[in-house]
Amino acid sequence: MNSSLELKDSLDSVLSFGDESVKHTVLIVDDEENNLMLLKRTLRGKYNILTAHNGVEALDVVKEHGKEISLIVSDQKMPVMEGTEFLKKVRESNPQIIKILLTGHVDTDIIVSAINDCDLFQYILKPFEPEELKITVENGISKFSMSSNNKIFYNELRRLFYNTIRAMSNALDTKDSYTNGHSLRVTLYSMILARELGLDDIYLEDIEIAGLLHDIGKIAMPKSVLCKNGKLTDEEFLIMKAHPSKGEKIVLNIKKLQMIAEWVKSHHEKYDGTGYPDGLKGNNIPLAGRIIALADTYDAMTSTRPYRTALPHETAISEIKRCAGTQFDPELAMLFVQLADKIDEARKNPEEYYKKYSLLGKNIDFKLTSEASQEAKLQQANENVATNSQNTPPIHKSYRIIY
Ligand SMILES: [Fe+2]
Repeated sequence: MNSSLELKDSLDSVLSFGDESVKHTVLIVDDEENNLMLLKRTLRGKYNILTAHNGVEALDVVKEHGKEISLIVSDQKMPVMEGTEFLKKVRESNPQIIKILLTGHVDTDIIVSAINDCDLFQYILKPFEPEELKITVENGISKFSMSSNNKIFYNELRRLFYNTIRAMSNALDTKDSYTNGHSLRVTLYSMILARELGLDDIYLEDIEIAGLLHDIGKIAMPKSVLCKNGKLTDEEFLIMKAHPSKGEKIVLNIKKLQMIAEWVKSHHEKYDGTGYPDGLKGNNIPLAGRIIALADTYDAMTSTRPYRTALPHETAISEIKRCAGTQFDPELAMLFVQLADKIDEARKNPEEYYKKYSLLGKNIDFKLTSEASQEAKLQQANENVATNSQNTPPIHKSYRIIY
């Protein structure tokens, strides 16, 4: 992620918020050539003008240029397709476009139906005063700008927020080279599980944040402990056990992430109550904590660590099955086992799968950690494994997910 460039892009977008110098495009639809010319003369100069002679022809124009069009002025009485029918279709395909209807006489039914069905901005009686038309179009363009600026602003805020979360997650990966990509894979597996459970998009977004930040407390851990080439002593293990609570404190600093802070804190709890930091049991552990615990353990088992090589996917799945009901929520563990093939596919290509599953990163052109640095770190990890005497993976009663 090139954060300085992204920050510049974001600032540029925020600074251009409210820029009125943009030349908007207006589509004029009228079957009478004279009217069309008059409308064109009234509006040209200030706007880019597109024209059509009936609803069907106009729909083709909208199909081709819909993203550029800010406003439509359409006559009501036209052959082939009437104005209201045309505008109703535009509302369905391009709801952001502002719609103005020209009518020959006041027909309450037509006007009420146009307001309700077409989301009409304004109607103008024919023959119209050019000045009145100009003012109405200007007001419509202002409304268009305001709503699209709000959307841009919202998207920028969302992008900045997402980039901050990713930057925090990447900062951890930089500090702890052995777990490079761990947070992202845990997020991915958690999202696969959560989606399969039928949880809604709001929950999925939250679980994406929680997954990316679940180990953020390790930022506060001494590097000598975090990157130790070998097993931790009891004393070091105690230090590392503080990371969920430290993570909770860090996340609590971000407004509106109170619930996610609790999830971060609970990702090392065990279903039978033997986990930490609070020894929570069963459903007292937040659902997201139980989900992330599974994803975290699976990734720890299938990743190379300083003191052992990665376990095969099948062995990791067998362990999850074996620990269902003790370490893991039994129902979630069984679902994870059912999803084993999908999880395995995702493990082999996490970047591609993450792009598919990410809700926060949707429509954001982000780059995952640099492949070159990832490769260098992997090589370093493999070298360390090769020189370590404890290469045989130990099978514990339950997996200690510390690294
Ligand atoms: Fe952790």
